[in-house]
Amino acid sequence: MGKVTVSLIKADVGGYPGHVAVHRELKSEAERVLSEGKETGVIVDFHVLSAGDDLELVMSHYRGVDSEEVHRLAWSAFEAATARAKELKLYGAGQDLLSDAFSGNVRGMGPGVAELEFKERKSEPLVAFMMDKTEPGAFNLPMFKIFADPFNTAGLVIDPALHGGFRFEVWDIMEHRRVILSTPEEMYDLLALIGAKSRYVIKRVYPKEGHKIDSDEAVAVVSTEKLYQIAGEYVGKDDPVALVRSQSGLPALGEVLEAFAFPHLVSGWMRGSHNGPVMPVSFKDARCTRFDGPPRVVAAGFQLSNGRLVGPVDLFDDPGFDYTRRKALEVAEYMRRHGPFEPHRLPLEDMEYTTLPNVLKRLEERFERVE
Ligand code: 13P
Ligand code: 13P
Ligand code: MG
Ligand code: MG
Repeated sequence: MGKVTVSLIKADVGGYPGHVAVHRELKSEAERVLSEGKETGVIVDFHVLSAGDDLELVMSHYRGVDSEEVHRLAWSAFEAATARAKELKLYGAGQDLLSDAFSGNVRGMGPGVAELEFKERKSEPLVAFMMDKTEPGAFNLPMFKIFADPFNTAGLVIDPALHGGFRFEVWDIMEHRRVILSTPEEMYDLLALIGAKSRYVIKRVYPKEGHKIDSDEAVAVVSTEKLYQIAGEYVGKDDPVALVRSQSGLPALGEVLEAFAFPHLVSGWMRGSHNGPVMPVSFKDARCTRFDGPPRVVAAGFQLSNGRLVGPVDLFDDPGFDYTRRKALEVAEYMRRHGPFEPHRLPLEDMEYTTLPNVLKRLEERFERVE
């Protein structure tokens, strides 16, 4: 058996109601299309999930990253779901499908994509993370904690197999370039970049030379599609997804999840223009209600078995995260009280849309010079 690939591809093809959730008929449409793909051998296994108003396709196959067949299948699933969303007049039906025709790859066409190709180990635990109402840089802090922070990941200190550290591939999404940084040696350089999370985003994490996993085999990946850059205008936030492999020379599953025990502030929330805490929730609680939020993260845990996705386990469906959720709600309440003021509302350059140019134009004549 060659290398297995896990592809997590997502799109918002219509919210129900507003931007809150995904209607179950959209999921059945996607399931119907992916079942056909399984029968015809395009994919080995799949699960259709949802996080907030985002439809999430988790698929496994042996066709590698960026496979035209797999991307075409995902695109067909989104098209079928969009057709149903249009019938139901769901909100923003087809929102993330930015093109009318598939042309070989869904990247750059609206959907978010996270794919990992690897040699399936003797036991292969994998977590699929899905966020709603935020942007790819929201994964910077937890990815850093998982693979580089000894206060999060005990294994970095006490497990000889992790002690060497990891390599981070960071993308500058404005200039369309990337750089690889090694931790712990270059930890401060890495933080100097990824702290600016709207511009520098962690794309992949790799083991170092000498690790039992090949150093060119990514162990974590984040979707980094920037919708507004693709469409040139506001079409919804780029709600990101990520895949993280774990155990046996990688952070333990609990170390991977521990990074989400702190509900850090992320950009997105209402109208993609507000800062708020990201709250880890179960799938049944992944409905963005209050002020279209607060932003959420859900986690589906799998074991791979010869390409089969054994799972999912709803990993944040655990009282162990109640404290984090309570803290997130306190922070949400605190941030909300700022109303239209920064730093709740994003700074002007980061807002998805604004009335300011019009307001300024109208007031132009009334502005007076001051000494
Ligand atoms: P592994 O080294 O087998 O991943 O064990 C670590 C562990 O599970 C600690 O919780
Ligand atoms: P989505 O990006 O999840 O569609 O949310 C858009 C929005 O404007 C929420 O207020
Ligand atoms: Mg939406
Ligand atoms: Mg969304």
